[in-house]
Order: sequence, then structure tokens, then C-alpha cells
Amino acid sequence: MTVGPGPGTGPRTYRVATIPGDGVGPEVVAAARRVVDAAGGRFGFTVDWSEHVVGGAAIDAYGVAIRDEDLAACGAADAILLGAVGGPRWSDPSATVRPEQALFALRGGLGLFANLRPVSIHPTLVASSPLRPELLEGVDMVIVRELTGGIYFGDRDEPSGEPGARTALDILPYAEHEISRIVRLAFEMARTRRGIVTQVDKANVLATSRLWRRVTDEIALEYPDVRLNHQLVDSCAMLLIRRPADFDVIVTENLFGDILSDEAAVLAGSLGVLPSASLGARRTEHGTFGLYEPIHGSAPDIAGRDIADPIGTILSAAMMLGTSLGCADAAEAVEGAVGRALDDGWRTADLADPADTGDGLVVVGTTAFATAVIDALQAAEVVA
Ligand code: NAD
Ligand code: IPM
Ligand code: MN
Repeated sequence: MTVGPGPGTGPRTYRVATIPGDGVGPEVVAAARRVVDAAGGRFGFTVDWSEHVVGGAAIDAYGVAIRDEDLAACGAADAILLGAVGGPRWSDPSATVRPEQALFALRGGLGLFANLRPVSIHPTLVASSPLRPELLEGVDMVIVRELTGGIYFGDRDEPSGEPGARTALDILPYAEHEISRIVRLAFEMARTRRGIVTQVDKANVLATSRLWRRVTDEIALEYPDVRLNHQLVDSCAMLLIRRPADFDVIVTENLFGDILSDEAAVLAGSLGVLPSASLGARRTEHGTFGLYEPIHGSAPDIAGRDIADPIGTILSAAMMLGTSLGCADAAEAVEGAVGRALDDGWRTADLADPADTGDGLVVVGTTAFATAVIDALQAAEVVA
């Protein structure tokens, strides 16, 4: 699988399905759309956006988390840009219809088995992380999370029985082909990076983890140039904070990848800044089809106030430009513009350094931050 710029040929109008979703989702997706449109103006492409009501919003409107026709339309686009779904309104544990079901329908239904969550630290955000600056030096990793298997997709029995004697069951299955395709992707990525793969599991307890180890060891033989480490997930959680710069490519199963990536967001300064790309095998005429979303959720505690950090969604849109739309130049320009907006002191509230009492930092809302990114994009030199 190719991860990175696609061929870049073909028509210069791209079809992107958006799922604004719930909570801050619509706010951060609107911000990222504006940035992508501005990049299009700069680099000579247009985006034909479609919008789909999915998640809690779809439960309210249609009684389901995602309608079949929306799933089909999303699958037929060149890429999907998603904000977040869910929230307390739809979180009743006894509900049978839940917003998060839409995520599994998209991921599983569209075969998006590889969730890439890159983590790097913008130099000016070092102060936003609770970690000591020297620990953050050189942090540059990507968490490769298996996204369509494991305990998320295994059979389950919902709680039943009399109070005091209730039971529930979640099954964690993995088949070899589900492991080998994502592990191979991790090794391929490591080859383009620092050449280190850390495979994370709980092999001292779980049979599926022991299968992951076996399959990974066999695949490693095909990549003698890549160094492979196995790491138990509990100690990995500790090392991510203690020696984060040691990691290059982390490959792991669905649930561990979910948890470790939120933890890694602390390194980057805020949950609001980390992007993700979910990819499968399908190619479009421009690149690899994918779903792009920030790793954070719908942040109901700050929704509707124009204060959410849009960086995770804007950087997800940059990954979309590079990987699904074949616009590596625009992708780089958007990433650079986010960096310059930060260098210029623009911050959303989550990144405001409490120790900084006015060293040129300007705390702004979601919309204004996106405007700062667009200004930086437009001010930048375009290298032909
Ligand atoms: P969350 O990620 O929504 O929020 C955790 C904390 O981080 C909150 O304090 C929030 O304000 C903050 N935060 C998150 N994004 C931010 C941003 N862009 N800018 C500034 N601060 C931000 O996690 P949660 O509260 O556990 O989950 C809320 C809902 O979101 C749940 O229903 C959950 O299922 C859903 N969720 C959806 C997705 C998704 O759609 N992919 C991902 C994670 C959680
Ligand atoms: C994520 C989220 C989802 C997950 C939830 C909302 C089901 O936390 O995308 O990281 O666990 O995959
Ligand atoms: Mn998560």
C-alpha cells in the first residue's frame, strides 16, 4: 500500500463527503473546509463537497446512526472528512441505537482497516504539554491502529440477568490476514521513516496477542532493514511518557491503539491537534481512498462556543490532500500554514500556555484560528 502522495493526475475537482457530526464536529469541519478551499484556490483545484447527517444528528433525524444511502455516498466519494459523533444526549447505556455505530459502519463497511495517527510536536507547543521539554525533543511517531477487527467487531452479549448476578461478554477475535496486512503496512512505513517498528500487545495474557507476535515475527523476516521491538501495552503506556522520542512506528490492535493515541496526544499539547487517516485497499484515480478525522471526540463540554481547536481536523484534511487527492504540494502547504499560524502566536484556548502571561500569544476561537491558517497559506510562497 502506498501511504503518501498519490499520482496527482486526472481532473482537478475532487469529491469529498463530509460528516460534520455532533458537538464540536460541525465547527471543526467547517474550519477545515475553508482551509481546503483556500488551498484549492492556491493550487488550482476545487472540491465538490457533499454533507451527510450522521451520528447523534442522524439518530434524531432518521432513527439510525447512519443511513445506507449516506454510507454508500461516502464510499463512492474520493475521500471522507469527519468531525466527530456522539454526546451525552445519546449515551444512555441501554440504548440500542448509538452514534458510534456510524463509525463502525464506515470503518468496517468501507474496509478501512488501517488507522494512522501521527504524533509530532510543533516546537512552539512544547510549553503546552505537561511533560518536561527535554522529554519532547525528537518526538516523531505514528501509531498504526488496526481499525476493523478485535474486540470492537467481535460478538458480544449485552448485560443481562438479575441485579447482583448480571453478566456481559465481549469477544476479541483476530484472524491472521487482519494482522498481517496492517503489520506489513507498518513495516513499509518504517522504511520511509527511522526504520523502527514497535508491536504492542498483551502477549503475557491474550491468545490474540500471541498470534500478533508470531505473525509479526514472520513478516519481520521480509524486512531485515527494519528493527522490530515487541512491547507489552502496559509498559508501552509508561514508556510513551517516559521516553516518547524512542518510538517511530507503533503497530497495535484496535483497542490498544485507541487508548495509546489519546495518551500520545498529551505529548503534542492537546487532544485537539492530532489528525488521523483511515485507509483500506481501495484506490481512486487520485490516490488511496480514506476517511480523515481528528482523534478527538465531539467535546460536548465546549461545543457550540467556537472555541474548539480545529488543528486536528485541518491536519486530517492535509493528510487527505496528500493521500487521497494526490495533492502533496497542497498538503505540505496546509501543514506549513498551521505551523506558521502557531509560530505567529495564534492559539485556541486548549493550547494557551497558562505560564505565559502575554508573550505575543493571541487566544482566538475556531473560526479565527482557521482564518489565521488561511492567511498564512495565502502569504506563503508557492513553489511551482
Ligand atoms: P472528547 O475527545 O470529545 O473530549 C475529551 C476532552 O478533550 C474534553 O475535555 C474536550 O473538551 C477536549 N477536547 C476534545 N477535542 C477538542 C478540541 N478540538 N479542542 C479543544 N478541546 C478538545 O472525548 P469524550 O468527552 O470522552 O467523548 C465525547 C463523545 O465523543 C462521546 O460520545 C464519544 O463516544 C465521542 N467520540 C467520538 C469520536 C469520533 O467521532 N471519532 C472520537 C472520540 C470520542
Ligand atoms: C476514536 C473513538 C472511537 C473509537 C469511539 C468514539 C467509538 O474513540 O475514534 O478514537 O474508540 O474508535
Ligand atoms: Mn479514541
